[in-house]
Amino acid sequence: MKLALHGATGRMGLAVTRLAHAAPDIDIVGAVCSSVDPGQGHDIGELAGIGTLGVEATADLGAGLLGAQVVIDFSTASAVPGLLAVAARQKVAVVSGTTNLDVSGKQALEKASESVAVLWAPNMSVGVQVLAELVEQALRRLGPQFDAEIVEVHHRNKVDAPSGTARRLSDAIKLVRADARELHGRAGEVGARSNAEIAVFGVRGGDVVGDHTVYLLGPGERLELTHRATSRELFAHGALRAAHFVHNRKPGRYAIADMLGT
Ligand SMILES: NC(=O)c1ccc[n+]([C@@H]2O[C@H](COP(=O)([O-])OP(=O)(O)OC[C@H]3O[C@@H](n4cnc5c(N)ncnc54)[C@H](OP(=O)(O)O)[C@@H]3O)[C@@H](O)[C@H]2O)c1
Repeated sequence: MKLALHGATGRMGLAVTRLAHAAPDIDIVGAVCSSVDPGQGHDIGELAGIGTLGVEATADLGAGLLGAQVVIDFSTASAVPGLLAVAARQKVAVVSGTTNLDVSGKQALEKASESVAVLWAPNMSVGVQVLAELVEQALRRLGPQFDAEIVEVHHRNKVDAPSGTARRLSDAIKLVRADARELHGRAGEVGARSNAEIAVFGVRGGDVVGDHTVYLLGPGERLELTHRATSRELFAHGALRAAHFVHNRKPGRYAIADMLGT
């Protein structure tokens, strides 16, 4: 599989580079970075600490995707529509893990999926997919007396909140509580909790890769369903598995659930 990376010099981009290089069936053919990235023009293997790969980081999207069959994207929300347009034009399947996409980003996913396979997931781990399925199942079994709230914890350099994974878990809750709305924390005289609330709390600090707990709080008892990511490699592994999944797949929108067959 001929692979390009978008957001190649970021934390996730370099983690994917290291794993992809170690995979015998993957050939890294392109590495796209931002136009202000000091890594521009440098070998992506050297930036990742694994020696020269003969692939320079470039801000030229068209050139970076040239010859690729799949591109893995971990960049920033504003860069995603541009990537999708070029990938669709050059017939490169897309795996994107970039979070905090706005309406135009989500529309761009749909548009590109008319031309190529597109898998976007705010969390590439199998564990989070299973957590979302468990949350939905638990809420159905526990019934309306139980309240659902989410706490997410991430490293101090994370720039968006709430995390994409918290939103993913909130969507799982909304499958059972269609009228629920997401609150981002609480402050002041907010009054008693209503049944239609899902509050999400973001904790930031240190080097936490990503923890998510869904609290299901009922009368006299509570469940706390937690996922802890202990290594960024987890997401890189998931992204490579997703890349194999979209490789040579027909155009369309795909999710981790499709990859797992759930
Ligand atoms: N789905 C998952 O499982 C998962 C897991 C971890 C992280 N994420 C998400 O993945 C994204 C990246 O995370 P990270 O921790 O790797 O962040 P990061 O270290 O900040 O990396 C992002 C990279 O994207 C680059 N970039 C910005 N604009 C670009 C453009 N127009 N073209 C190409 N590259 C561009 C940035 O360059 P500059 O620094 O020059 O701006 C930076 O090198 C975030 O949205 C994060 O929430 C998702």
